[in-house]
Amino acid sequence: MKNKVSIIGAGMTGSTTAHWLAEKEIADLVLVDIVEGMPQGKALDLQQAMPVVYKDVTIVGSNDYEATAGSDIVVITAGIPRKPGMSRDDLLTTNAKIVQKATTETLNLSPEAIIVVLTNPLDTMAYLAMKSGKLPPQRVIGQAGILDSARMRAFVSMELGVSVENVHCYVLGGHGDEMVPLSHISNVAGVPLDEILPPDRLEAIVERTRKGGGEIVSLLKTGSAYYAPAAAVTQMVEAILKNKQLIVPAAAYLQGEYGLNDIFFGVPVQIGRNGVEKIIEYQLNDAEREALKKSAGAVRETISALHSLIEI
Ligand code: NAI
Ligand code: 2OP
Repeated sequence: MKNKVSIIGAGMTGSTTAHWLAEKEIADLVLVDIVEGMPQGKALDLQQAMPVVYKDVTIVGSNDYEATAGSDIVVITAGIPRKPGMSRDDLLTTNAKIVQKATTETLNLSPEAIIVVLTNPLDTMAYLAMKSGKLPPQRVIGQAGILDSARMRAFVSMELGVSVENVHCYVLGGHGDEMVPLSHISNVAGVPLDEILPPDRLEAIVERTRKGGGEIVSLLKTGSAYYAPAAAVTQMVEAILKNKQLIVPAAAYLQGEYGLNDIFFGVPVQIGRNGVEKIIEYQLNDAEREALKKSAGAVRETISALHSLIEI
């Protein structure tokens, strides 16, 4: 039987995720959106690309959740993106209701599905999905760390003129300006970044990584990044469907790991057919631990705001 992946929200990130996934030919796809005709139109267009790229994938668009029944994975991208000057947290009020509905509606029809959340504010929306769906923690994963780490990898590769394949970066923490790029664990072909780059260049890359999403929002003016976020979601979906046991940074529910409880937060996770198979704990130095604590404080504030907004 073929795998089935449903993507809720067929906007920029949702439809680009469908595009990357279709190219991989690992699942049939469903795109759901509230805008009439739009998911149907995008699905049909993508379906008509399949003969050109020789991929046997069925892609369906719908305004109705019925089409998602029996999904192995549900990707939630529905909601509004940032405009220039907005923080991810400014999206909370609107997106919380959307994510809650997307979670409960899809789980009614796909009770075994693993939920991958992209909608911002990311860590809090993943928390909301888990609580609203009454799901075991391993079945909800938030996408942030692959993207944030990829941004850092891209900047290091551009700075040093080496292949992205040689650059390994790890950005942990919440998906906000307090995220924590780990400069010592990150490396180029095994050599730690803080031994390769002069401190001022390294600091500039860390800063640019933290503000990476905002940089793109300022350039686009009408929305936020979508190619790299969608590529990141695709890597997670592939890891689940192929049971790869892939270790990547992603937002997972913590129950004591890194000294944190009852919070979704970016940590290294091992992803397989059951979702979050394992949370990996790095040995961090004092400064990194302190930075993670600060980032967790920012996520907790948004979770508190969520509790005052919505019953979960
Ligand atoms: P977009 O505006 O292009 O697409 C969002 C889509 O959601 C729209 O087509 C809209 O009609 C749809 N939608 C709204 N309410 C809905 C509902 N109740 N049911 C189904 N569909 C609904 O926005 P984009 O760029 O795709 O971003 C989506 C979200 O993902 C935003 O919150 C954005 O901030 C977030 N994001 C998160 C990233 C991450 O790394 N975690 C990266 C990029 C975006
Ligand atoms: C980003 O980092 C919008 O959260 C999204 O690009």
